[in-house]
Amino acid sequence: MAARKLLVDIHTHVYLPRYASFLRSRSVVPRIFSRTNDAGKTEERLLILDDEPSAGRPIGSQYWDRDEKLKFMDKHDIDVSIVSSANPWLDFLPASTAQQLAGELNEDLENYCSTGPSVQDDTLKRLYGFGLLPLVPGVSPSTLVETVKQISALSHLKGVIIGTRGIGKGLDDDALEPVWAAIAEAGLVIFLHPHYGVDGKAWGEKDNGHVLPLALGFPFETTIATTRLILSGVFDRHPNLRLLLAHSGGALPQLSSRLASCIDHDPIVASRLSHDARYYLGKLYFDAVAYGSEELGFVSDVIGRSSAYSARPSSAKASKNVEGDKRKIGSARMLFGTDHPFFPPLSETEKWKSVVENLEAIDGVNGWAETEKEGVRGDNALKLFGLRV
Ligand code: URA
Ligand code: ZN
Repeated sequence: MAARKLLVDIHTHVYLPRYASFLRSRSVVPRIFSRTNDAGKTEERLLILDDEPSAGRPIGSQYWDRDEKLKFMDKHDIDVSIVSSANPWLDFLPASTAQQLAGELNEDLENYCSTGPSVQDDTLKRLYGFGLLPLVPGVSPSTLVETVKQISALSHLKGVIIGTRGIGKGLDDDALEPVWAAIAEAGLVIFLHPHYGVDGKAWGEKDNGHVLPLALGFPFETTIATTRLILSGVFDRHPNLRLLLAHSGGALPQLSSRLASCIDHDPIVASRLSHDARYYLGKLYFDAVAYGSEELGFVSDVIGRSSAYSARPSSAKASKNVEGDKRKIGSARMLFGTDHPFFPPLSETEKWKSVVENLEAIDGVNGWAETEKEGVRGDNALKLFGLRV
């Protein structure tokens, strides 16, 4: 009988105990605070977003306890998780604190992974991680490069999770050039994850809870940050950089031809890029946290057609014909994720809806054969993170 293929979760978060304690010590956002609920019980709440309802969100041991992570993995048959610190990382801290905490939290995460269980024998662990960089104003690029080196020396850390602010000017800041070079050279994967959303005024005055910032603000933020990176030419200068986008790249797949057209009509911007904008989508990786088969199919189409746009100007060189089936080709850059421990079930259920929906979405993509589905569920991650068994 063929061995069961591994299920790998590449979008799953933790607030390491050191970080959770730090949030508890704070009296301003981001913070964890205690309150007495309607049933008279003390409970902890998490407040991390600007303008979020003052009650924040419930938080509990599933955010910091490794046993809870493993129980969640077992419940959903997840074999391996590549765990990342949850937002807002170190973004709100002064440079010296961010620097010190980054170093300590990277060691903590290495320990969290390396002392955890293995899948079968000791060749594959169940937990790997994305480290943290002290990406805050005032931290020098050389300090960031040192932290990249620290992470690459910690054998269970396979990448870095970053937000969109960089060291204050966003990710297209020229000052970050040595950081991209160091990450590419170390072979680490960058997981780009949102936190800030877009201007809260866009959400109007109605109380829509967390829906608009999470459903729209988060993915738009990722869309803008990735587009700015593309426009800055980072992928021309660092063709080996591996960037994994949260939430299936937000709106970028939907907008990539419009982006290409706008660039074509702006010769100064166009002259900075070696390729048509659509080409760069084929250099990126996308999590499969989209909750719908049609969306996953569409994203894989867009990734898979990128090879038709290998050089600028697109009208001269684009062949429009992709060798092979673009939906299948694109699937190789998509990877299952859960966003655990966010989006917990609201009532007692066996499995988390947010997980089941993402697995069903993968299963239901038209045009993905079992090989592509297995790829998205685990094989692509094993390859991307060098965990092949
Ligand atoms: N909400 C967050 O703040 N972060 C996530 O990663 C998911 C939901
Ligand atoms: Zn997330």
